[in-house]
Amino acid sequence: MLAVEGLCKRFGGFLAVNEVSFDLRAGEILGLIGPNGSGKSTTFNLIAGNLRPSAGSIRFDGREIGGLAAHAICHLGIGRTFQIPRPFRKLSLLENVTVAAYHGAGGKISRAEAQHRAETALEMVGLPVSSSVQTNGMGAAALKKLELARALATKPRLLLADESLGGLDREEMEHAAEVLDDIRNRLGITIIWVEHIMGVLMRIVDRVIVLDHGEKIFEGKPAQAAVDPRVTEVYLGKART
Ligand SMILES: Nc1ncnc2c1ncn2[C@@H]1O[C@H](COP(=O)(O)OP(=O)(O)O)[C@@H](O)[C@H]1O
Ligand SMILES: [Mg+2]
Repeated sequence: MLAVEGLCKRFGGFLAVNEVSFDLRAGEILGLIGPNGSGKSTTFNLIAGNLRPSAGSIRFDGREIGGLAAHAICHLGIGRTFQIPRPFRKLSLLENVTVAAYHGAGGKISRAEAQHRAETALEMVGLPVSSSVQTNGMGAAALKKLELARALATKPRLLLADESLGGLDREEMEHAAEVLDDIRNRLGITIIWVEHIMGVLMRIVDRVIVLDHGEKIFEGKPAQAAVDPRVTEVYLGKART
């Protein structure tokens, strides 16, 4: 479904993503992990069209999408969440997701249909569908769910989930992981899931890629990642043997 090859992103003299290549099969959940600053969100921003690659290619269903505008990539079927949720504060929860549904359909659906898609997405992530709920006062867990609902409402075939566990407690993390698992299993949506911690992600994903300083240092099964010397060094600072 997705083929990333030799992907690079340079900010001035700094190489944030360095020759990253990977493939993604339809129906897969791929975990993309690595310490803070390792280039995970930048990789998402390149795939989703928020940033233009300095080099390399990104093919989605065989078509080159590197450098296309974010809205065009959304309309091709790639949805993404943002690490830092920024809802429209003057709109209700339901309206926030309705706007996303309307945008995802390129404005070609009725308001009623957009709202219907929004309600379905809110239900999927476990948020209230009532039109009177506001985003003010929503905690970290609810805001992360809102990010997911907004992305789902655009009806993606590929979902890029950036740090869905950030700021959550143990129980909330378990729930968020189940929601992602459900999105893949019940909706058949392919997922790339970014986290800086391994945690519950490792139980859910089919495969994991580890980034360090913008470079891919590991790709394989989660169980192998946990015992890989380079990965454990990055995560635990263990000396290489
Ligand atoms: N727009 C930008 N301009 C300059 N540097 C950036 C920009 N975006 C990210 N970076 C830098 O690129 C590196 C990777 O960032 P990021 O992809 O956000 O890391 P991660 O998501 O893995 O924590 C960091 O050193 C960050 O400071
Ligand atoms: Mg990030």
